[in-house]
Amino acid sequence: MPPDAYRVGVVGATGAVGSTMLEVLAERGFPASEVVPFASERSAGKKVAFGEGELECRPLATETIRGLDLVLSSAGGTVSAEWAPKLVDAGAVVVDNTSFWRMHDDVPLVVAEVNPEALEQHRGIVANPNCSAMQMLVALAPLHRTVGLERIVVSTYQPVSGTGRRAMQELEGQAHALLHESEVPAPEVYPHRIAFNILPQVETFKGGDDYTTEERKMMAETRKILGATEEELGISATCVRVPVLKGESESVNVQTREPLSPEECRQLLAAASGVVVVDAPAEGVYPLATEAAGRDEVLVGRIRRDPSHERCLNMWIVGDNLRKGAATNAVQVAELLHERGLVRVPEGAGIAAG
Ligand SMILES: NC(=O)c1ccc[n+]([C@@H]2O[C@H](COP(=O)([O-])OP(=O)(O)OC[C@H]3O[C@@H](n4cnc5c(N)ncnc54)[C@H](OP(=O)(O)O)[C@@H]3O)[C@@H](O)[C@H]2O)c1
Repeated sequence: MPPDAYRVGVVGATGAVGSTMLEVLAERGFPASEVVPFASERSAGKKVAFGEGELECRPLATETIRGLDLVLSSAGGTVSAEWAPKLVDAGAVVVDNTSFWRMHDDVPLVVAEVNPEALEQHRGIVANPNCSAMQMLVALAPLHRTVGLERIVVSTYQPVSGTGRRAMQELEGQAHALLHESEVPAPEVYPHRIAFNILPQVETFKGGDDYTTEERKMMAETRKILGATEEELGISATCVRVPVLKGESESVNVQTREPLSPEECRQLLAAASGVVVVDAPAEGVYPLATEAAGRDEVLVGRIRRDPSHERCLNMWIVGDNLRKGAATNAVQVAELLHERGLVRVPEGAGIAAG
C-alpha cells in the first residue's frame, strides 16, 4: 500500500515553473504531509504562496534535504546535475524539469498521457520533457497509436515565460518603453529586442550546429518518448520566440503511415485524454495562446489536409508551457508514481552525478 501522504520538496520554488508547481500541487490536492520550497541562497527565508497560505524558502543543503519522499525540481540544469543524485541518495524520488537528465538511459522521460508505463523503470529520477515536445505529443500520440507517425515538421511560436521570470520582465519593460516613447532597455536575456519582434532562435547554436539546442531537444525527446528510432520517425523542428507572455503555439505538419482524414483526426483527438479540439475556423474558432494560458489541456485546431501529400495533415497545437508544458505534467507524474506505489528509490539505485 502506498503511504497516505509524502514530504514533498519543490526546488526552484520562486521561479516561473516552480511557483506554478506549487499552484498545481495545491489545486489538485496532491497527498502531501508537508511541502518544502527550495530556492537559491539569495531567497532563503523568502515567502512563496501555497494554497491559501505561504511557505518559507530554504537553500539546498545536506541538512535541508533530509527526509523528503518526493522532489519536483526546476532550478536549471546545473542545479539538477549536482542535486538530483544527492536527493536520490537522501531517499527522495526526483521529478526533474530541466533538460539535464532527459536523454540519460536510466531516466524515464514521461508525458503522463503518452508513456506512463516508462515510470516502472525509474531508478530515482524521472525527467519531465521539454514544453514544446510535451504539448505536441499529447496531441500526436493518439495518432501514432492508431495510424502510426512517419514524419513530423513543426514550427513553434514560444512565449517568453519559457525562458523564466527575467524574460517576462524583459518583454514587459521593452514593450512599456516602446509604447511610451522612452528609451528601450537593451536586451539582456535574448540576443535581440523581443518586444514587437520575432526571433528565429530559441536557446543557442551549440558548437556551430545550424539547429538550436531547443530544436535538437524537441527532435530527440520526441523519439525517446515514442520509442522510435531516427529511421522510424523523421522529425524537423524550427523553434521561434514570439512576444507572448504565456501559451505556446505550434504549426505541425504530420505524415501518418496509414491514411487519416481530417474528420477522423478530429474524432480521435476528441476522445483523447488531455486534448480539446477547438476547430471551427470559419467562425473564428481555433486554439489561441490566450485561451490555453491557465488551462491544463492541449488545444488542437486548424486540422486540414496538406494538399501536397495524401497522408499529411496540418494542425495548430496550443498549450500552456508553464502548466502542461512543465508543472502540470510534473504533478501528474507524481500522482502516477503515488498510484503505482513507485514513490520509493529502488534498492541499489544511484545515478552518477552529472
Ligand atoms: N519556463 C518554462 O516554460 C519551462 C518549461 C519546462 C522546463 N523548464 C525548465 O525549468 C527550469 C527553471 O525554469 P524557470 O522558467 O522556472 O526559471 P526561473 O523563473 O528563472 O526560475 C529559476 C528558479 O531556480 C532557482 N535557483 C537558481 N539557482 C538555484 C540554486 N543554486 N539552488 C536552488 N534554487 C536555485 C531560482 O531561485 P532564486 O529566485 O533564489 O534565484 C528560481 O526559483 C529550467 O531548467 C528550464 O529549462 C522551464
